Amino acid sequence: MSAPYLHVSGINKRFGGLQALNDCSFTIREGAITCLVGPNGAGKTTIFNAITGFLRPDSGQVEFRGRRISGLSPQTIVAAGIARSFQNLRLFAEISALDNVLVGMRGQFGEEPLSALFRPLKTAHAQAARRITGREILDQVGLLAQADTLVRNLSYGEQKLLTIARLLATKADLLLLDEPASGLSAGALAALMALLRRLQSAGKTLLVVEHNTRVVQQIADDVLFLHQGHLMAQGTPEAIMADPALAEIYFGGALQDHGP
Ligand SMILES: Nc1ncnc2c1ncn2[C@@H]1O[C@H](COP(=O)(O)OP(=O)(O)OP(=O)(O)O)[C@@H](O)[C@H]1O
Ligand SMILES: [Mg+2]
Repeated sequence: MSAPYLHVSGINKRFGGLQALNDCSFTIREGAITCLVGPNGAGKTTIFNAITGFLRPDSGQVEFRGRRISGLSPQTIVAAGIARSFQNLRLFAEISALDNVLVGMRGQFGEEPLSALFRPLKTAHAQAARRITGREILDQVGLLAQADTLVRNLSYGEQKLLTIARLLATKADLLLLDEPASGLSAGALAALMALLRRLQSAGKTLLVVEHNTRVVQQIADDVLFLHQGHLMAQGTPEAIMADPALAEIYFGGALQDHGP
């Protein structure tokens, strides 16, 4: 049997007296859109941090395509093919949308700082190539017309799309999105869901933290339900939504009755 695409096994993480991740284990399938759900404070962002090297778990491990990645630096994990977004967008507000994407591409195209001095023509060509690629990525997420707009002048929905563009700039195959739909208008939400499906069709694998149950029902192939740092259930959106015990934990009521 081949190794799972992403395999999280037995992760524990304690912050002082709080067990934020408690023997957390799951796998995700290549090519799937997997939604990670669970109440506030369940440990969703913490598991993203553990997978992507932003925090070191107390125990447990993460394997990506059969290779152990726990303990590696965030940069090495991005290079291995996993990129993540943040709940607070972490964009550069005072530079353009295109420049934000170019920042995500840093280190590609064989650029070293000194080559600008000694090989100016090569560097100029590399920069032109980067800008073309950057514009292609903005086009993919529907932001080409805003390429030269300063980020602070983009709408919130556009800024969220730009965070995804920045992930695409890394060329990672597995994208971890932390609440990409939160705060979006109905129109922006539809654009986001269409984008996520296009990314899936283009061969990306997505792990998405999502609170809106309608979004989960519409986009998820698999759902992971996290509670108190532990994976309580894994299944199809239909199976997870229909489970009254999970609904009680999540909302103290029926799952279907909630979400904007
Ligand atoms: N660096 C930290 N130091 C101390 N406690 C932390 C730290 N990071 C997270 N926690 C705590 O760990 C628990 C899990 O937090 P986490 O941010 O992973 O939850 P979440 O599922 O992403 O919640 P939300 O839906 O609100 O984003 C919370 O109780 C949180 O306060
Ligand atoms: Mg979170």
